[in-house]
Amino acid sequence: MDELTRIEHLNKQALGELAGVASDAALRDWRVRYLGKKSQLTAMLRRLGELSLVEKKAVGARANEVKAGLEAFLAEKEQALSKARMVSLAGDEALDVTLPGRTPPVGRLHPVTRIIYEISDIFASMGFQVLEGPEVELDYYNFEALNIPDEHPARDTMATLWVDYEKEGGQRPMLLRTHTSPMQIRFMEKTKPPLRIVVPGKVFRYEATDATHIPMFHQIEGLAVDKGISMAELKGTLYEFSRRFFGKDRKVRFRADYFPFVEPGVEMAIECAVCRGSGCRLCGASGWIEILGAGMVHPRVLERVNIDPKVYSGFAFGMGIERLPMLRYGIDDIRLFYGGDLRFLRQF
Ligand code: PHE
Repeated sequence: MDELTRIEHLNKQALGELAGVASDAALRDWRVRYLGKKSQLTAMLRRLGELSLVEKKAVGARANEVKAGLEAFLAEKEQALSKARMVSLAGDEALDVTLPGRTPPVGRLHPVTRIIYEISDIFASMGFQVLEGPEVELDYYNFEALNIPDEHPARDTMATLWVDYEKEGGQRPMLLRTHTSPMQIRFMEKTKPPLRIVVPGKVFRYEATDATHIPMFHQIEGLAVDKGISMAELKGTLYEFSRRFFGKDRKVRFRADYFPFVEPGVEMAIECAVCRGSGCRLCGASGWIEILGAGMVHPRVLERVNIDPKVYSGFAFGMGIERLPMLRYGIDDIRLFYGGDLRFLRQF
């Protein structure tokens, strides 16, 4: 092999290897091997003196050309490597990929959803099945079957959002359910006792919006029907719920109340978290905060779904949900839940 062929061979080999260089260390190594003092190219240039004049000229010129070329490619590669560290975006906007990444925003459950899960878990651990029901409901389930016939004054206690059912293709009057109680009927139509269910979900009322009222809120319904269920089971179950949700030292109060679909009916209140019973602004100076309505399922409600009230009895309760996180976290405006303000929502 003559010197010129050797040079071409060397050039090819050097360029081939350079293409595969991917790190600063490999590049340094490459430079030492092909352009360093002990490299073949340097040795060749040193040997020029041993050649004939003609050869010297040709080999010398080519060797210097190759050397300059390799140096130029080396400089290019150096730049490419440092650029790889700085991925160039539009124009001179640069992104340093060695910076730690930005944390992507992670979603979370809405505080009301979390409370629904928490309440459902407590009742599930006491043997209650958790299910949901339709939000657009027939008048029959929302009122009629719950012992609230047409013209009954109890209808006025729930400001109702009616659906234009004929226009919607419905056969019978429909509305946005005003409470979760219609699921008592729907479930008992299909399932015979013993049964225990809780039904969380949205309810709707025609209300003017303020700090404590919104036209859509949540309730959780409870229903237990079996042989020999009495008021003791109702109180025991709800006491246990209160202990688990509010803590052991929170007092609970039951008082008589009226709902057409229970007899007798009660309301349950818990001791105010702020004043512990002495009376403050939150509890309206009463020391108590009502959280639910309840009672023993009315015999006529059972009869309507073909459950014999002489054999079976049951209790039901309906609890407003938003009030619970409001009490627990000291939230003073219900509208905050649905305003979509992340500064509020991120706190939970
Ligand atoms: N549905 C009633 C309401 O919305 C609450 C309730 C449920 C009362 C079950 C008694 C039994 O006010």
